[in-house]
Amino acid sequence: MRIDVLYGAEHLGTQEVQGRVVAMIDVLRASTTIAVALANGARTVIPLESSEDVVTRSKQFERAGVLLAGERRMLKMDGFDLGNSPAEHTREVVEGKTVLLTTTNGTRALLAVQGARDVVVASYVNLTAVSAMLRAALRGGADVTIVCAGQHRQFALEDAACAGRYVYQITKRLQQADVNDAALAASLIDRKYGDNLMRLFSTAAHGRALAAAGFEGDLAACAAVDSYPVIPIYQDRQITKLGPERER
Ligand code: MLT
Repeated sequence: MRIDVLYGAEHLGTQEVQGRVVAMIDVLRASTTIAVALANGARTVIPLESSEDVVTRSKQFERAGVLLAGERRMLKMDGFDLGNSPAEHTREVVEGKTVLLTTTNGTRALLAVQGARDVVVASYVNLTAVSAMLRAALRGGADVTIVCAGQHRQFALEDAACAGRYVYQITKRLQQADVNDAALAASLIDRKYGDNLMRLFSTAAHGRALAAAGFEGDLAACAAVDSYPVIPIYQDRQITKLGPERER
């Protein structure tokens, strides 16, 4: 029973992925936005590398059924329907739609995960739901890798803290779980900030950048623990939510 935390998807090797359950975290904001979009009834979210990929892929859909979404430097791209703000992915906008999403770090981290048994998108807004899924996987004998997407190949404090919270949740009362040093460090960061996620976000570089760009409201949305209790599973190049219509 192993749980490894990795800082940056570029460190992913076969050993950390093959046959494992992988949780990808980009708290600010891609993994939060994906959970919000699915909870609000998006049919699926398709992560893509670039804005060009989004435009090309959109041509395979009826225009009315698809939303072009994503950010560069935190802002919506020209001609796109939505940015990467969870506040934009409301039920009125996303219900029944396919969301084609490209973000600077989060969607790229997801695309880098190849060969995992399952890939799940994790954040604070779906903490308990995703933790339960990861605990069940561990109990069933799977090893777990938590990938912190980070910022431009750099360590991101908020992703590490969230990873630490997941390590805590999924190892509670599990004596035999082995964790790597990165997971221990993540746990220390989680303990330092505790439930004061707004303090965490206002300390972290990307949290400060989002606030300066006018997205303070997104910080509160990303800090709302368990507000969108969905389990987003990335499989066959798309993310859908686990539920009655999609069991594992
Ligand atoms: C990313 O994927 O880099 C982020 O979600 C950026 C953002 O805050 O939109």
